Amino acid sequence: MVITKAIIPAAGLGTRFLPATKAVAKEMLPILDKPAIQYIVEEAVASGIASFTIIFNKNKTALINHFDSAPELDLLLKERGKEKILHGINKIIRNAEFTYVNQPEPLGLGHAILLARNTIGKEYFGILLPDDIIVGSQPGLAQLIAIAQQENASVIAVQEIPIEKASSYGVIAIKKQISPVLYQINGLVEKPTASQAPSNLAIVGRYVLSHKIFTSLDAIMPYTEGELQLTDGIAHMVKNGEKVFAYKIQGHRYDTGNPLGLLKANIGIGLQHPDYGPQLQKLFEKKLIDVIAGDL
Ligand code: G1P
Repeated sequence: MVITKAIIPAAGLGTRFLPATKAVAKEMLPILDKPAIQYIVEEAVASGIASFTIIFNKNKTALINHFDSAPELDLLLKERGKEKILHGINKIIRNAEFTYVNQPEPLGLGHAILLARNTIGKEYFGILLPDDIIVGSQPGLAQLIAIAQQENASVIAVQEIPIEKASSYGVIAIKKQISPVLYQINGLVEKPTASQAPSNLAIVGRYVLSHKIFTSLDAIMPYTEGELQLTDGIAHMVKNGEKVFAYKIQGHRYDTGNPLGLLKANIGIGLQHPDYGPQLQKLFEKKLIDVIAGDL
């Protein structure tokens, strides 16, 4: 099984970031010097993905521009001897293929994935939710791809959560524990209450799925509460006898879908950064009052 395609659903409204997201796509908000979505694409490329389908909408055209070449800027930087600045993004642009699919109405994650069907075909493929940034020694999606290849089946990423937070996530029901980090699933529930949660293992935004997910998503329409959930589509696949595994993804997950989460990502990733890390560390060693007072 070779997995080279991935979908990034990026048509969310970003209401939790208003007014910052009134005119700017939330995926373009920066973590240090890169927009959040670039971390996602870099993880996917490091996992072997060469072909991306980005689900977007008319307010998110900056995403297209970010993953397109900018010859005038390249020339300007070259003249100033600063071409290294865009080296990372230009490498991605040269080596990966991007297709954009419009989601005209916010009809849910499952609907967004269905829209990408024609770009996938009959293969296993990855999904990366751009709010979840995973930092660890191995790229997040690569960990799932290894399990999908080993089990020849679909795999979703999970992490343990405090049960009172179950209502923010999709939660899995365990059929069988295979190893300390691998489970076979026998059901999933999207955003259950703590008392309805079938486990404390919540879905993190990385998936490797069989193309059969598209048939399942078709089958569960009409949408529940106006939105088609990807979690319900996967639950349907399981009910139909498809094997689906859950893997406890290794690494730190930042939920950048809210302002505090994005701030934590900036600090956490900043502390690891070769240039900014030492300076940031120094700031934290000072009394907080000095930090707030500014850089004198
Ligand atoms: C989505 C999924 C949910 C998953 C979560 C992870 O929810 O529907 O199953 O646990 O991402 O971030 P959202 O956060 O988009 O509401």
